[in-house]
Amino acid sequence: MEIFAETERIILREILPTDRDGLFAVDSDPDVNIFLGKKPVEKIEQIDEIIKFIRKQYVDNGIGRWALIEKHTNNFIGWCGLKLVRELTNNHINYYDLGYRLNKSYWGRGFATEAAKATLRYGFDNMKLNDIYAMTDSQNIASRNVIEKIGLKYVDTFKFDNTDHDWFEIHKQ
Ligand SMILES: CC(C)(COP(=O)(O)OP(=O)(O)OC[C@H]1O[C@@H](n2cnc3c(N)ncnc32)[C@H](O)[C@@H]1OP(=O)(O)O)[C@@H](O)C(=O)NCCC(=O)NCCS
Repeated sequence: MEIFAETERIILREILPTDRDGLFAVDSDPDVNIFLGKKPVEKIEQIDEIIKFIRKQYVDNGIGRWALIEKHTNNFIGWCGLKLVRELTNNHINYYDLGYRLNKSYWGRGFATEAAKATLRYGFDNMKLNDIYAMTDSQNIASRNVIEKIGLKYVDTFKFDNTDHDWFEIHKQ
């Protein structure tokens, strides 16, 4: 099992097939899905497909979202990480997107910020990236706060799935 980053409270490691229950708890929660333009997942088998899809990205792209684990409990908090986006999005293609999604019981305790900061560091220091991007539904204040707290800058607002989304970027100094 590969660990990519570690901070005071968390570990970021590869997502494993055994994360299915933890991921199901996140993706089946309607509150988690409010700003994601998705319906909550209903069947655990859908999670098995998602895990396969993410693990295929590790092989094909050398990177994908990681499991976010609380150190002292070993609980699955959610996921955080970089994804190589191959689809044209707001005039960008083949770019690295920073994202995260947490179990509701962990919201509001700084976990997303801690994980996103470690992910950014990995992108610049280990992957030697020059640019990292993020986007969020314009109404998703919590996500915007995380993005801006770790240093990404707002660029513009664009339509994604017919909904206003904000686009952010950060470049290696
Ligand atoms: C977005 C999300 C990852 C934030 O996770 P989190 O661990 O609660 O974030 P943090 O605790 O690091 O908080 C970051 C900042 O946002 C603020 N914040 C958190 N939730 C908030 C809310 N609902 N409304 C307003 N501000 C909020 C925090 O106070 C904090 O700012 P502060 O340090 O100045 O107080 C989490 O809410 C989530 O998983 N949402 C569902 C999935 C999702 O929307 N993912 C992002 C898609 S772009």
